[in-house]
Amino acid sequence: MTIRARALTKDYPRSSRGGAVLTAVAPTDLDLAPGSLTVVTGRSGSGKSTLLMMLAGLLTPTAGTVEVAGQDLYALTEQERSRLRNERIGLVPQGHTALRSLSVLENVLLPAVIRGEAEPPAARAAGLLEDVGLAGLAAERPQELSGGELRRLAIARALLMEPGALLADEPTAGLDSENVEVVLALLRRAADSGACVLVVTHEAEADRVADRVLTMDGGRLS
Ligand SMILES: Nc1ncnc2c1ncn2[C@@H]1O[C@H](COP(=O)(O)OP(=O)(O)O)[C@@H](O)[C@H]1O
Ligand SMILES: [Mg+2]
Repeated sequence: MTIRARALTKDYPRSSRGGAVLTAVAPTDLDLAPGSLTVVTGRSGSGKSTLLMMLAGLLTPTAGTVEVAGQDLYALTEQERSRLRNERIGLVPQGHTALRSLSVLENVLLPAVIRGEAEPPAARAAGLLEDVGLAGLAAERPQELSGGELRRLAIARALLMEPGALLADEPTAGLDSENVEVVLALLRRAADSGACVLVVTHEAEADRVADRVLTMDGGRLS
């Protein structure tokens, strides 16, 4: 699957200064190709998360377009966009987003439950947990897990629907070096199996597994 952004822009209103706006992402063109891992690095506040959230269908751009598998993401209805997002875009959000009331396995199954599948693919979810080294923790609650384990859980959940795209926001933040390696290897493997993968990070570690490294500075990508 390909994600194609054209003149993608986000302005935020600046509440402190009348009608002034902050351009978090200046008009940006970006193509994410199947089988390819792109890393966007840049300081905190440079616009990385804003860019990723627009590509993921979660933040409406001020201007410009995002095409996902040939569909104009923000021309879809809210419902169509949610569905496309849930089924075709694996998102690893910044921070920890596991639901505390569900087990680790149930958290991985969430995208299938959201889709309304009568029989959520428990065997596939268990296989993914095995892949990310969490098989032994399937029945635990997320609050029993370490930071590295939670990040791996988020990756397993993002891969459940076999998405054509994987978008990860600071996936290695706060992890020890061993877990950084595990997480980067999982992202690389997703690209090698054909997904388009985007990693945004203020750290340099992901550069090693990247096919392409871009830099974001003050909302401009280069
Ligand atoms: N919801 C928002 N409202 C107003 N300003 C925002 C909002 N989200 C982010 N910003 C601002 O946009 C800029 C880019 O933020 P962000 O995309 O989170 O950067 P990064 O992920 O690179 O740290 C920052 O100056 C931030 O303060
Ligand atoms: Mg960010």
